[in-house]
Amino acid sequence: MTGGIQAQIERVRAELTSRPEGLQRHVGRVLTEALDLARAWDVDPDRVELATWGHDLFRAASPAELVTMARAAGVAVEAPDLAEPVLLHGPVAAAVLEARFAVSDDEVLAAVRDHTLGLSEMPMLAKVILLADKVEARKRQRAPVMKQIRRLARRDLDLALLCWADWKWVEERTHGWQSHAQHWHARAEWVRQHHGEVALPPRVPETADN
Ligand SMILES: [Fe+2]
Ligand SMILES: [Fe+2]
Repeated sequence: MTGGIQAQIERVRAELTSRPEGLQRHVGRVLTEALDLARAWDVDPDRVELATWGHDLFRAASPAELVTMARAAGVAVEAPDLAEPVLLHGPVAAAVLEARFAVSDDEVLAAVRDHTLGLSEMPMLAKVILLADKVEARKRQRAPVMKQIRRLARRDLDLALLCWADWKWVEERTHGWQSHAQHWHARAEWVRQHHGEVALPPRVPETADN
């Protein structure tokens, strides 16, 4: 396939029009949030748009379809994924975007792949997409604490991610759900980094000689 990022955006957006309307509306709300965060953090809006249109391309696929697509695309399918195949929708979308839509931007692919569970090391683009996905208007209605996480994301993306992970932890323990190992590992690393930062000497304004 030829064409730059605009052509990729158009192709992925066109693909999404065949998906359920509710899902399309969710992606539209995520785009509003993601572009807003992109402005705040100086992230390229085209890359944000491409990742947003692509992140949930397979969110409405059935569990069996997701497992089949994952195996066909060479995505690792572990026991937790078989127990909850919806977890595969990001990795499958990233694999399909690369193979069928010629997306070669590693950060866009990482943002799509890891938008559900997070990863200990994420590019800023991936942090923007994950948080935009979690704080879009409908989700703020469902879980009002997302309003605070949304506000925090404009001040400190990493702390917003950690707060989201803490909220998720409480949800999982409250409902008796398992924590996915990838997410748990990411959260542990975010905690470590956050407290490492707290233990550092206070920041000083940057000058020419420091
Ligand atoms: Fe998703
Ligand atoms: Fe989403």
